[in-house]
Amino acid sequence: GKSVVTLDDLTTEQIDLLLRKAEYIDAHRREVAHACDGRIIATLFYEPSTRTRLSFETAMLRLGGQVIGFAGAQLASVSKGESIADTLKTVANFVDVVAIRHPKEGAALVASEAVDIPVINAGDGGHMHPTQTLADLCTLQSRFGRVNNLTVGLCGDLTFGRTVHSLIETLCRFGNVNFVLISPDELKTPRYVIDRIKATPSCSYVEVKDLISVIGDLDVLYMTRVQQERFFNEDDYLRLRDTYILDEDKLRLAKKDMAVLHPLPRVNEISVDVDGDPRAAYFEQVKNGMLMRMALESSVLGDDLPGFDPDKKEVA
Ligand code: CP
Repeated sequence: GKSVVTLDDLTTEQIDLLLRKAEYIDAHRREVAHACDGRIIATLFYEPSTRTRLSFETAMLRLGGQVIGFAGAQLASVSKGESIADTLKTVANFVDVVAIRHPKEGAALVASEAVDIPVINAGDGGHMHPTQTLADLCTLQSRFGRVNNLTVGLCGDLTFGRTVHSLIETLCRFGNVNFVLISPDELKTPRYVIDRIKATPSCSYVEVKDLISVIGDLDVLYMTRVQQERFFNEDDYLRLRDTYILDEDKLRLAKKDMAVLHPLPRVNEISVDVDGDPRAAYFEQVKNGMLMRMALESSVLGDDLPGFDPDKKEVA
């Protein structure tokens, strides 16, 4: 099966195709309502989630398939010491595709290597969150008509924010992106992600601490939550958590068509005042996440979307 542990498991053409499928699905919900009839997905969530789990599940239900799974490791046999590989070898007897979220980096890779059915990474520790990136790309595509030739600011916890790592690596593949990496010294972007930017001649980056001085340059501002669950030290978390709070005053300094993205959940880093601003795109991102998961689930299963023509552009 075709697993997706990182977006490097998909070609750039396949990512493009998923974007076109998501656009088609949004406009043709009834036509695709039986695309995955008879299929079952297992959602194995060893870590809390609202959007990712519910949208993986809704995606399968909206394609005509069904869902099993667990939300919280305490209810599954991992609490009795069962390994990821054994769990996957068990569940693979029941379902056609698995989505797994786990607090340990590499868990999704281990899961994908244990079985032949497709395994989709729904977030592995501080490493990657590829389907969030698909949601982010879909949001850029719908806001700007493109996913590159943009200045993209990423702000907050760039160390532990796995959505940031997936997004930067994927945007590098599309090329022509200027990254503005905004974080305190303690929460800078990991070296392996910076190396990916450096290895992409058409992309550039700067690392800064101050949001206000750069916000006017940005086409996209991707805010992130400080990842309390990945901190070793509560004092550090408390000191850093409110470093950046996007509010209406700061937005006044931004371009009129800048898009504010956030993978959610937010804590304090975007004031609720911003929600009514046309630049706020984070709830659109949630919807796009469901559409992209519909596109991905049907694709990894090899199920056609009735009426979808990969060469035809949707008319808005
Ligand atoms: N964006 C995201 O992964 O949200 P959840 O943790 O609620 O799934």
